[in-house]
Amino acid sequence: MKKKTVYILLMLGTGILLWAACTQQQTTQQNEHAADSTAMADSAAACNTTAIKDPNNAKPMALMMRQMAQNADSMRAQLLRGETLDSLRYPFIRFYLAEPTDPTVLEPKFYENARLFQEAYKALFAHPKEQTKYYNLMIGKCANCHESYCSGPLKKIRKLYIPVE
Ligand code: HEC
Repeated sequence: MKKKTVYILLMLGTGILLWAACTQQQTTQQNEHAADSTAMADSAAACNTTAIKDPNNAKPMALMMRQMAQNADSMRAQLLRGETLDSLRYPFIRFYLAEPTDPTVLEPKFYENARLFQEAYKALFAHPKEQTKYYNLMIGKCANCHESYCSGPLKKIRKLYIPVE
């Protein structure tokens, strides 16, 4: 065989190998992605159906979330009446320490969302003159976490915003 032919064959071989490796990687990525969306669907399902299936046997985190939603609702009513919110009436609820329906939600991104929510919650009481604005920012952090972990209550959460002109 001539040197040139050997060279061409080598190039072809490498090309085929690279192509095979690349296709395989794509398949793996697709599988991982599929696994991701299944996990997401599962946690959304765990969250969406608890209240309906077994309203009296909810996990501690779900119960705290119900309390948080109730509190937000009464904060909203107070702000619409032009009242100032008192931090003593609305202590921060440490929901992230409670047992959730689906324990797989307890991952770094969840805790990061919880941290951002807690910051927004503190900011609400640190700005007594601009509470409507900070209240809406706080509700935005509820929504942010729910976009990733438990999309069922999103509709309900979005109704908690106070419209501003
Ligand atoms: C860091 C993430 C995170 C934040 C922030 C968060 N949630 Fe949740 N929420 C969850 C998870 C996870 C569940 C599912 C809990 C379970 O089933 O144990 C949940 C469940 C709920 C539920 C359904 C409870 C039930 O009856 O089963 C409501 C309603 C809710 N959240 C409202 C809110 C509101 C309102 C806020 C803001 C004031 C908020 N959430 C902030 C993650 C979050």
